[in-house]
Amino acid sequence: MGCKITGWGKALPQLTVTNNDLAAIVDTTDEWIVERTGIRQRHVATTETTTDLASEAGRRALEQAGLTPEDIDLLICMTITPDAIIPSQACLVKARLGLANAVAFDLNAACSGCIYGIDVASSMMAASMGGIGGCQRNPIKNALVIGVDCLSRIVDWTDRATCVLFGDGAGAAVISWDEEEPGILATYLRNVDDSQLYLACDAVYDLSTLPFPQSGTPTPVAVIAGTQPAEGGEESYRPFISMQGQKVFKFAATVMAEAVETVCQRAGVPVEEAACIVPHQANERIIRFASKKMGVPMERFQVSIEEVGNTSASSVLMALADAFEAQRIRPGDKVILVGFGAGLTYGALMFQA
Ligand code: UT7
Repeated sequence: MGCKITGWGKALPQLTVTNNDLAAIVDTTDEWIVERTGIRQRHVATTETTTDLASEAGRRALEQAGLTPEDIDLLICMTITPDAIIPSQACLVKARLGLANAVAFDLNAACSGCIYGIDVASSMMAASMGGIGGCQRNPIKNALVIGVDCLSRIVDWTDRATCVLFGDGAGAAVISWDEEEPGILATYLRNVDDSQLYLACDAVYDLSTLPFPQSGTPTPVAVIAGTQPAEGGEESYRPFISMQGQKVFKFAATVMAEAVETVCQRAGVPVEEAACIVPHQANERIIRFASKKMGVPMERFQVSIEEVGNTSASSVLMALADAFEAQRIRPGDKVILVGFGAGLTYGALMFQA
């Protein structure tokens, strides 16, 4: 018995923005972006909301799983760009899709959202179906997890170092309790303090708008986190994503290998037996680096970054949908998902299809 992935889906905004489109607004070139990242275009939500994209991906995953909205007992939306703070993104999607019986909440683990979301949903499912600890809980037979982000809202479109990387989209998966087959075999979640703020965005926390004199200065995440101001200046409010690209690159390349190795050990399955590895799509070069470090050929990695860029919490679930659609994953196959992102968060999981 176990928690099986039975449905998948993705949704993208209509508008595509090519590298050449970006070269018209910042000092960059198609060659630079392709060579350094593998990205050729991304989708940007100009008419769609986060709710629109999440709901469409969720609807497709339900259809794929052959379930009705009423069958869903739990909805988790993994996002850093919800349409509102309250109601949560999950509550908005629950209403849109008519998931009458679902409890719904959001989870922010940035680009690791897919791994954290599936782990939380499957843990809740296993605890409720297996009756762990003799505690009576909501029975969860079917869960829907949706990774969704409209990063275009928090990207500085004048900063060539970040605006060329990100895109908007949503990916979804249905997880169902199966009395016969195993499903998710092992998970591994980790957090490392981002004390140097490699990846940060203050966005909603501009306390300078408070009408009290003591609170008159902006309170950036650096102050809250207790990190030192950047050399030569005070920390200032970051309305947009700020990133130390090379630092994140090194972190990612190291932890991806560690996470995959650990999850393989926990599952008792050597990495060679994994039919497909679906990584966070941040940079094709990071995936190549990790592939070398793990000694696993690139052909076994799902690479979907070219057309969509880095879509944060949506990334792994969208790439997973691509891998299923391309029939790279067949019944019984072992599949590894691996992610990393702001927090810093990272993790991996292995499931049997
Ligand atoms: O979801 C998780 C979050 N993000 C990531 O995982 C991203 C991890 N990091 C990366 O993917 C890479 O570090 C980047 C793609 C962001 C940057 O690639 P890089 O090879 O590390 O480039 P760099 O930052 O070392 O910059 C090299 C040069 C610099 O010019 P100088 O100082 O050598 O003259 C940059 O100013 O490239 C310049 N540059 C650009 N040039 C053209 C930076 N961005 C651009 C650009 N177009 N868009």
